Formats: sequence, structure tokens, C-alpha cells
Amino acid sequence: MDFKNEIAIVTGGAQGIGKEVVKGIIEGGGKVIIVDINERVAKETVDELGDAVSFYKMDLGDSDQIRITMKQIIEDFEKIDILINCGGIVSTKPFQDISQEEWNRVLSINLTGTFATCQSIYSHFIENKGGRIVNVSSVAGKIGGGLLGTSAYATSKAGVNGLTKAIAKEGGKYGIRCNAVCPSYTNTAMTNNLKENKELEAKVINMIPLGRRAEPNEIAQMILFFASNLASFVNGEIGDCDGGIVLD
Ligand SMILES: NC(=O)c1ccc[n+]([C@@H]2O[C@H](COP(=O)([O-])OP(=O)(O)OC[C@H]3O[C@@H](n4cnc5c(N)ncnc54)[C@H](O)[C@@H]3O)[C@@H](O)[C@H]2O)c1
Repeated sequence: MDFKNEIAIVTGGAQGIGKEVVKGIIEGGGKVIIVDINERVAKETVDELGDAVSFYKMDLGDSDQIRITMKQIIEDFEKIDILINCGGIVSTKPFQDISQEEWNRVLSINLTGTFATCQSIYSHFIENKGGRIVNVSSVAGKIGGGLLGTSAYATSKAGVNGLTKAIAKEGGKYGIRCNAVCPSYTNTAMTNNLKENKELEAKVINMIPLGRRAEPNEIAQMILFFASNLASFVNGEIGDCDGGIVLD
């Protein structure tokens, strides 16, 4: 896909799905700023992918830090075209066992962090007469969890879906498109525990009509499509990339 002369911010771009998105944008001729909390892995990714990629350390759980970092990135690069929110954490405890602290942390990183990155770039996109946002959500946000993430995770991702639609609705008049992608079981570090538990993994795979997990580049393709001009009239879409679980 064509990203020539475009600059994208990818949160959580150090590894997993985010890293595949970063690769797709630079293959399309664009530049990427990775923002991530994991400095070591992010620096390895920057070294591996070369000059078109830069890195800023940022904690999605800290809204003040998000606003400062995003402002700095906009000042440093002058024009940002795309924001892709891939950063996130999972929470797998049964409802009764989730502490208030864990609930707050999951909501803060996955939902409030997404709100803060989107809001931090919104006026820049208005000034530029447009911009594209893709939020990485999850099937959990549509079906109440069930594959890996439980209630806190599902709630955070349902919130991301609502936020995506609200930004699409309000931002459309400024040329801002905002869409979300809902993956199911994908082969990344986030699902290491599931890979190790063969019995549970078999149950999860059994729920997926395609009968297998996704590779991260398969999720990245849909994210890249939403971020590209190929999707110029797609706005407010919550797209499933899940092997056929949700079917809505
Ligand atoms: N892997 C799956 O099965 C799956 C399924 C559905 C949705 N998702 C979603 O896809 C997105 C990407 O996940 P992934 O599977 O690539 O996982 P991953 O763990 O490989 O990558 C997540 C990235 O987010 C970063 N991150 C975590 N907490 C952060 C914080 N506080 N501040 C900044 N960065 C932070 C990590 O350092 C990492 O680079 C997440 O939003 C996840 O919820 C994943």
C-alpha cells in the first residue's frame, strides 16, 4: 500500500502487530514514529528497520506523558498523517478475581491511553484538513471476552469501539477518518501463555471457523488498509479480522 511522503505514529510499534504495521508503512514509502514503553525492544526494531523509523518512549497509562510526548512529536515532525493505536495489555482473570488496581490499569492503558493519543493529535489533523486514525481493538470488545481477555479487557476494547465511532462521527467534517480493527487469537508475545497451554489453545482454535490463529502481518494488512487512501470513504468501521468468530 502506498504511504509515500506520509508520516505515521504507531503506538505499541516495538513488537507484535504494531511492528508489522510499521514494516508495512515503510515498505509503502512512509516514515514511522514508534511510541512504546519498551525501550529495549523498540530500539532493536528501529535498528532492524532503518532510517525511516524513529522512537519516542511513552507510557500509555500516563495521560500527561502522552500529551507532552505527542506535542513534541508533532513539533519535531511538523506534519503527521496517520495515528495507529496498537499499544495495549491483556487481562485474563475471572471477573471475581480482578482487583481494582488491575481494572484501573487495563482501562487506563487500553482505553484512556487511546483517548489521550487521539485527542492529542485531533487539532493537528483539523489544521491539516484531515488525518487517519486506526485503533486496534479486539473481538473481546464485541463478545464480552472469551478467547483470552476477560471483563476488564473486554470493557476496555468495547470502549475503544465506542470511542472510534464517536471520533468518526465528530471528526468526519474535518476529513478525519477513524476506524478500528478487531483481531482474534494472534501469534504475538501477548498470547504466549495461551500457546503454552495446549488444551486451552485447542479450545480457542476450535471457536475460530478458519481453524487456526492469525499471524501478526495478517492483522496488519487490515490496519494498513484502513490507514491508507484505499479506504478513503471508510469511517467509523469496526472491522473484524478474526477468522470468522463474530460474524456481525
Ligand atoms: N495478540 C492477540 O491475540 C490480540 C487479539 C486481539 C487484540 N489484540 C490487540 O492488538 C494490539 C497489539 O497487541 P500484540 O498482540 O501485538 O501484543 P504485544 O504484547 O506483542 O504488543 C503490544 C505492544 O504494546 C506495548 N505496550 C504495552 N503497554 C504499554 C504502555 N503502557 N505504554 C506504551 N506501550 C505499551 C508493548 O511494549 C508492545 O510493544 C493490542 O491492543 C491488543 O490488545 C491482540
